[in-house]
Amino acid sequence: MVVAIDGPAGAGKSSVAYAVARELSFTYLDSGAMYRSVALAAIERGEPAAAIAGSLRVQPGERVLLDGRDVTDAIRAPAVSEAASRAAADPRVRSAMAARQRQMISHGDWVAEGRDIGTVVAPDAEVKVYLTATPEERARRRAAELCVDAGTVLAEQTIRDERDRARAHSPLKPAPGAVVLDTTNLTLEQVVARVIELVKAVCHPGGHH
Ligand code: DC
Repeated sequence: MVVAIDGPAGAGKSSVAYAVARELSFTYLDSGAMYRSVALAAIERGEPAAAIAGSLRVQPGERVLLDGRDVTDAIRAPAVSEAASRAAADPRVRSAMAARQRQMISHGDWVAEGRDIGTVVAPDAEVKVYLTATPEERARRRAAELCVDAGTVLAEQTIRDERDRARAHSPLKPAPGAVVLDTTNLTLEQVVARVIELVKAVCHPGGHH
């Protein structure tokens, strides 16, 4: 079974997807880590992301491996966030990543998180969730996480949101059939509980919880 969780940065996708996966004993797929890894390799090698995306070995997981090297921390640098957002707008990068992600989730039970899981990677996912929150709340969460100024985060976030939404290929938007959850006034526990309810409704249709 595949649970697809999409939405903009700071909506809580990573925390929610990770917690849901743990609770259900599904495997968690952080697709953003794959775009970040490609962007990091492109910066390091001075080559366009599209030229190398197909040949890199990116293993997302508890630790993120790029051609066997642990890049878990390196891919969180602000310069890599910016480069990843640009790389993710390139259709050649997207198709290489989507193909790999499809292959990964073709067997077993997954909670896959990103921007295009429900729309492109796994349109047949049994559960599709689109998490949102107000821009201010999303910036506040990111700022608290990174220990930086919320105003700066909001400005940069607005640019990346716009790029993710306006791109011609796989723009960020709720998939058909996705349940849209606004997390602005919800706790992590409340969001996780709601997603688990949706999964259980698929496993036990008509059941009472
Ligand atoms: O979720 P994140 O911040 O780690 O994602 C990094 C970048 O990759 C971000 O600009 C959005 C993009 N991305 C994407 O376009 N499609 C995905 N499935 C995941 C991430």
